[in-house]
Amino acid sequence: MKHFNIALIPGDGIGPEVVAEGIKVLKAIEEADKTISFTFKEFPWGCEYYLKNGKMMDDDALDILKDYDAIYLGAVGYPGVPDHISLRDLLIKIRKGFDQYVNLRPVELLHPDLTPLKNKTEKDIDMLVIRENSEGEYSGAGDWLFKDKPEEVVLQTGVFSRKGTERIIRYAYEEARKSNRTLTSISKGNALNYSMVFWDQVFEEVGKEYPDVKTYSYLVDAASLYFVSQPERFEVVVTSNLFGDIVTDIGAAITGGMGLATGANINPERKYPSMFEPVHGSAPDIAGKGIANPIAAIWSVSQMLDFFGLEEWAEAVLNTIKQILKENTYLTPDLGGSVSTDELGSHFVELLIKNRG
Ligand SMILES: NC(=O)c1ccc[n+]([C@@H]2O[C@H](COP(=O)([O-])OP(=O)(O)OC[C@H]3O[C@@H](n4cnc5c(N)ncnc54)[C@H](O)[C@@H]3O)[C@@H](O)[C@H]2O)c1
Repeated sequence: MKHFNIALIPGDGIGPEVVAEGIKVLKAIEEADKTISFTFKEFPWGCEYYLKNGKMMDDDALDILKDYDAIYLGAVGYPGVPDHISLRDLLIKIRKGFDQYVNLRPVELLHPDLTPLKNKTEKDIDMLVIRENSEGEYSGAGDWLFKDKPEEVVLQTGVFSRKGTERIIRYAYEEARKSNRTLTSISKGNALNYSMVFWDQVFEEVGKEYPDVKTYSYLVDAASLYFVSQPERFEVVVTSNLFGDIVTDIGAAITGGMGLATGANINPERKYPSMFEPVHGSAPDIAGKGIANPIAAIWSVSQMLDFFGLEEWAEAVLNTIKQILKENTYLTPDLGGSVSTDELGSHFVELLIKNRG
């Protein structure tokens, strides 16, 4: 019997709506496969909690979360609480506190109709972006001098440690080697003359240990162009925290939108729990309407199952997503359909169990 303890942070806006569908999927798997069981514990942290308590989560949140096998998060952020508070005091605290230094974001076209790009098919858009997730431009280092004075100066420091840079690049080389794919580094050494020159140097140094991996290195501006014009150039991609954040939104745009983009925050050493979440935010414009697309959150469940070593179920979940997209009848409005979040989730579970029958 394999048992997994999952901490739930549904968060704000559409977060709870989509997480509910992911839980439905996990419960259905538990029901269908008697060798697997899950327990869930929900935490009320997020913007509403902040407005009542003056903090995004309990002071001892990391201590509470540290013994879970995984964290399943919806989205955080809502009008009324500044975004830098909701992001830094919850998401980034967890990512950094649990050394989840790998952010795995698949950019995979699951059905040809979903891309706005002409003449591109599933085989052209199939990459894994590995984003550095613990330091870089999001380290939070900096200063705000002479605030509100004419001589005001702000400093936002990118922090690229040797340890942090080497480990993410090595992780990416390992992934490329394991999956026999090319590896592309995205940086900006021409303009960022310390951090990105260092990044490029480390990419080359570590590459010496992987002569079997074919590599490319692009500036982030050129890479952004290629994401749109020639996405087939990319297989495994490694990049910094900020660049990864941005290029994966381009990735979402070319594969069907935010309702389909997923990301896993991984602590590869498994010393701390890893966290699984859709890439999208709390979508205040559609929150409470029951029309959020739950597929990104369900894809996160697939990533979680993979991380748990339940690869067959992970694949079954991804295949069912593809099937739903192909059927084209049970889709939420963002994909041109008219079903609700809950209807899509229930249909998903039916198909998943039938497929595994
Ligand atoms: N990981 C996170 O928790 C996270 C990520 C991004 C933004 N945010 C926060 O979310 C709030 C809103 O941010 P935003 O509007 O820039 O980004 P967003 O991702 O919430 O929304 C962008 C657009 O995509 C649509 N969208 C997003 N997810 C969808 C889904 N599942 N189904 C259908 N449509 C979907 C929204 O309706 C909106 O039009 C902000 O407070 C922001 O800080 C949180």
